[in-house]
Amino acid sequence: MSGFTRLERIPVRILPDHEAISHEVAERIATLIRTRAAEGRQAVLGLATGSTPVGIYRELIRRHRDEDLDFSNVVTFNLDEYFPMGPESIHSYHRFMRENLFDHVNVPPDQVHVPRGDLDREATEAHCESYEAAIREAGGIDFQILGIGRSGHVGFNEPGSGRESRTRLVYLDTVTRADAASDFFGEENVPPEAVTMGVATILEAREIALIATGEHKSAVVKRAVEGEVHADVAATYLQEHPSATVYLDPAAAAELTRVRTPWILGEVSWTPEREPEAVLWLSQRTGKPILQLSTKDYRDNHLSSLVARHGSAGPLNGEVFNRLISKIRGKSKLPSRERIVVFSPHPDDDVISMGGALRKLVENGNHITVGYQTSGNIAVFGHEVRRYLDFVERARPLMELAEHAALSRRVEAVEAHLAGAHPGDVDADDVLDLKRIIRETEAVSALESVGLGSENARFLDLPFYQTGKVRKDPITERDVARCLDFLDETKPTIVFAAGDFSDPHGTHRMCLEAVTRALDAYRGPAPQLWLYRGAWQEWPLAEADVLVPMSAEELRKKILAIFKHQSQKDVAPFPGPDPREFWQRVEERNRGTAELLRSVGLPAYYAMEAFVVLEDGERLATALVPTASLGEGF
Ligand code: F6R
Repeated sequence: MSGFTRLERIPVRILPDHEAISHEVAERIATLIRTRAAEGRQAVLGLATGSTPVGIYRELIRRHRDEDLDFSNVVTFNLDEYFPMGPESIHSYHRFMRENLFDHVNVPPDQVHVPRGDLDREATEAHCESYEAAIREAGGIDFQILGIGRSGHVGFNEPGSGRESRTRLVYLDTVTRADAASDFFGEENVPPEAVTMGVATILEAREIALIATGEHKSAVVKRAVEGEVHADVAATYLQEHPSATVYLDPAAAAELTRVRTPWILGEVSWTPEREPEAVLWLSQRTGKPILQLSTKDYRDNHLSSLVARHGSAGPLNGEVFNRLISKIRGKSKLPSRERIVVFSPHPDDDVISMGGALRKLVENGNHITVGYQTSGNIAVFGHEVRRYLDFVERARPLMELAEHAALSRRVEAVEAHLAGAHPGDVDADDVLDLKRIIRETEAVSALESVGLGSENARFLDLPFYQTGKVRKDPITERDVARCLDFLDETKPTIVFAAGDFSDPHGTHRMCLEAVTRALDAYRGPAPQLWLYRGAWQEWPLAEADVLVPMSAEELRKKILAIFKHQSQKDVAPFPGPDPREFWQRVEERNRGTAELLRSVGLPAYYAMEAFVVLEDGERLATALVPTASLGEGF
C-alpha cells in the first residue's frame, strides 16, 4: 500500500456509505456461516448493539429471507447489557437483539447469548465467569462486530480498561452516558453500570470488524487508528490484533490524515477541489491571510508540488481567494422568483439551519413551500402537552365552547396517561398526536416570523418516523411516495434539504435518503439541490458552494424564529452529546464560519450560513464523498 496509510496502525476501509459497509460485512459473515455449515461446524458470532450494526442485521435478515441463509449452525455472543436492566425493557439489549435480528432469522434460542443485567451483584459476578466459559466451550468467537463510542470504548470498555480485562461489571463513562441520554430521555435515566465483555475477551476473536459512521465519530476514529495503544482509548488495543479491520464511511474517516491533509503523507494528485483545502489549511497553520502566503510557506509545509503547478504563490493565492469570495452571496445574488421547496427533517431544522437564507429568499419574492418530513413528536415533553390541555380548559368559556363530555373524557385520559408515563415509554396514540400538533403550531409560528404563513407549510409525517420510539423503521416506498407527491404538487426549480450525516439517531440521514429517492423518481425538470447542514456541524469552507452572510440584526431575527419552537427550548429532550440549546449552537456555528473567513483574509462578516449546491443530475453520493479520501486503500 502507498505512503498514504502509513500513519494508520490498523487496516482501514473507507466505503461510500453505511449501506455499503453493511453489505460488505454481512457478506463476510454470510460466507463464514456457509463455509462452517459445509464443514458441519458452527459459526460463532460476536454481536454489538447501537445504531451502527443495524444495517448489517437488516442485510443478514434479507439474505435469510431471500437467499436461504441458514442460521441453524450459528452461535451468538453479545458484547454487553446495561445494569440494572430487565430483558423486556425497551432499553434492554436483549430486546434490541430480538427486534433487530433474532426474531427474524432461524438462530436456535439456546445458541443465543446476551449478558444479563437483571441479576444481583453477586450473581452477576458468577454470570460473567460463566459467560466467558460459554464462549470458550463454543470454541471461541469467529467473527466479532464492534462499534466505537466517543469515549473510545469497544463493548463498554471505558477509558482505563486494561488489556487483560474480562467480562465484568463496569461503570459507564460520562461521555457514554451523555450519548445515551436521548435514548433514555435524560442522562439521569441512563443506568450507571453495564456488564461487558472485556478487552481480552474481544481480542481473542479470530476476526474483528470495527465499524464507525458519522462525523461525530471522526475524532475518536483518528485516535483509535493513528494514536498509540493506550488504556484511555480501548479501541487502540485492536492495533495488536492480527485480523482486525476498521470500516468507515467518509464522514467518520474525515479526520484521518490521509483524508484531512494527505499532502503531509506524500505526493497527492491535485484537483480543483483539493487545492483550496490545502491553501485554507496553510493559511490557518501559518496564521497568514491567503493573499500573504509566500512560495516559501508552501515549500516549508509539504506543498511544494502545489505551488510548482502554479509557478509561484501569487497566482495560486489569487485563484483560491477569488474562488472563495465568489461563494459569498448576499440577498441580491440569491435566487428570486423561483419555486422553492425546503425539506426540513424535523419541524425546526428549516430555521435552525437556513433561517437567515430563508428570510432573504422570502424577501426576494420566491414561492416557498416547506415540507416538514417528520412530526418530531417524540421530542416533546409531557408537561408541554399538559399546558395545552390546560389552555383548552381555560379558553373554553371564552371561546363559547359548550361543555363537551367526549372532550373532557379525552383530556382526562391523556392526563392519566401522562401521569403514569415513565421516561422513554412509548406514548399512547392520542398523546403522540397532540405532541405532533404542538410541533406543527410551532413550525407555523416560526414560518410567520420569517414572513411566510401556514399555507407555505406541508406536514409530510413520513411513516418511517412513526414508531413512537427513538429507533426508527427503515425508509420504504411509502416515505418516498409522500416526498414525491409533494414534489409533484410544488414543481420546484430549487430544492433545499438537510445534507446531514452526523445525526446520532440517523433521522436526518434517513430524511435525505427519502428526498434523493423521490428526486430520482421525479419526472418534472430536475431542480437544483441545495444542501444545508443540521444542528450538528457546518460545511467546511472549501466544500461549501454558497455562503450567505447575516448582519447581527439578521442573526438575532433568525434566533427569534428558533425560539418559536418552544417545546425544544431550555431543556430539549434530544440535546445529543452537546448540551447547548440549538440557538446557542447556531449562533456559534454561524459566527464561527464568518470568523474563519475573516481569519484567512476575506471580508469580515458578522455571521454566515453555508450550502453545498448540486446541479441537475449530479449524483449525491459521489458529490459528498470528500475528494481527498478518494485515494488508495479503498
Ligand atoms: C453496543 C456497544 C457499544 C456501541 C458503541 C457505539 O453493544 O458495545 O460499544 O457499539 O457505543 O454505539 P452506536 O453504534 O450507537 O454509535
